[in-house]
Amino acid sequence: MRFLYQQLATELQQQIEQGQYASGERLPGVRELAQRRALSISTVVASYRHLEACGYLHANNRRGYFVKARSLPPPLSSTPVLPTAVPSAVCSQQIALSLSKAAADPAYIRLGAAVPATSYLPQHALQKALQQVIKTEPTRLMRYEASRGTPELRHEIAKRMALHGAVVSPEDVIITNGCQEALMLSLKAITQPGDIVVIESPAFYGLLQALEAAGLKALALPTDAKTGLDPAALAEAVNRWPIKACVLIANYSNPLGCLMPDSNKKRIVHLLSSRGIPLIEDDTYGDLGFAGQRPSSCLALCPTENIFYCSTFSKTLSPDLRIGWVIAPKHTAKLEYLKFISNISTAALPQLAVAKLLQSGQYERHLKQVRPQYQAAIQRISSSIGRLFPTGTRVSQPQGGFVLWIELPKGLDGSQLAQLALAEHISIAPGVIFSPTAKSGSANYSNFIRLNCAATPDARLERALQTLGQLCYKLLGPKTQG
Ligand SMILES: Cc1ncc(COP(=O)(O)O)c(C=O)c1O
Repeated sequence: MRFLYQQLATELQQQIEQGQYASGERLPGVRELAQRRALSISTVVASYRHLEACGYLHANNRRGYFVKARSLPPPLSSTPVLPTAVPSAVCSQQIALSLSKAAADPAYIRLGAAVPATSYLPQHALQKALQQVIKTEPTRLMRYEASRGTPELRHEIAKRMALHGAVVSPEDVIITNGCQEALMLSLKAITQPGDIVVIESPAFYGLLQALEAAGLKALALPTDAKTGLDPAALAEAVNRWPIKACVLIANYSNPLGCLMPDSNKKRIVHLLSSRGIPLIEDDTYGDLGFAGQRPSSCLALCPTENIFYCSTFSKTLSPDLRIGWVIAPKHTAKLEYLKFISNISTAALPQLAVAKLLQSGQYERHLKQVRPQYQAAIQRISSSIGRLFPTGTRVSQPQGGFVLWIELPKGLDGSQLAQLALAEHISIAPGVIFSPTAKSGSANYSNFIRLNCAATPDARLERALQTLGQLCYKLLGPKTQG
């Protein structure tokens, strides 16, 4: 049940967001509004105070309540260049496990792991497809599936990739348990413990875990907040170090959400090919861009045998399906064997259900619907951060996906914020886990956090953001209370 003051506050909030009250404009006086709406004065005061606490209004002595200037926080210009880009062993990724646990616990508001709330996923279509498979294919669910995966899904994936410019044979598609396994198999196929692998900085922490598990060294290179990994830095690195692989999220990187221009993708593929260094392309977010056309993958732009293409349906259909894939035609036999000795095969039921959604066009229809929803979620949360977080906070401007990378004012520790937030049942991802050593330090993103914006857009989310803002002020000290 919602109280009257909450209903009025929601209404006023919407009017402010839609621009019916301009920034700086005075809202109707308390008495006047109470009379007009046949409400008590205390109800109107309570809603004004609530909107003040949420950062929409400010009270001006006895003159009344005014709409606070709406400001988007300033964008990140580019991520700080790491002073010494040297290969380092990856360690201390255990914090990520606590995020994963919180992401599965409904008691937490889940802004840590990059997992969309159910309302963003095609729950009913997926349920129907799973039921159909159970009904029509009962015997196929009673044996080991082939290690490569079901022919139906491999065929649909190859068909869809060809539509976006990457012509691959279904025979070369290896179905994996999500993109995480695709990355792990790719690394295993081409590296030995101790080898150096180039990654982006900041880097997706699942990749860091894969490197840690394989005993690999990470060389984290500067990554621009808009255009991704710097090709010039890569050129310098390949001249200096014996690099054995490069892992790249060219389309809507996690956590920056940046999109690498095609010209840079081509430069990087050519550079790596000329040195015989394999490129592992993680295209997890490629289908979730905000602009009209899907961006090309590196594989589509420069079809070469040097690329391991990895992707997943975890962010578009459901993470629990555990359906991803890897394609590297020159290495198909090796990848198939590695998959076999890791866990034999991926279950047929989710594979066949995904194949149905692709084949029926439901997958494409869902993407059309969900992309603007993710974009709206990013904008909503960015503007809440502008209202609620201390001055000096900067945010990424992702061009796809659903995460925000946030730079907090200097001196504010993202890990401390994450600890305090956990006590309030809010999970967020501290910046340090996006760096190979996951330790506090100026070059390790200690004053950064990542927020998952695909949380259910409700009052609980707004309250959580408010709490995060208050915790930031608390950590900064008493002089900065906003
Ligand atoms: C960039 C990126 N790659 C890979 C993964 C892992 O995907 P999956 O859940 O399919 O294993 C994620 C999940 O967060 C991701 O963000």
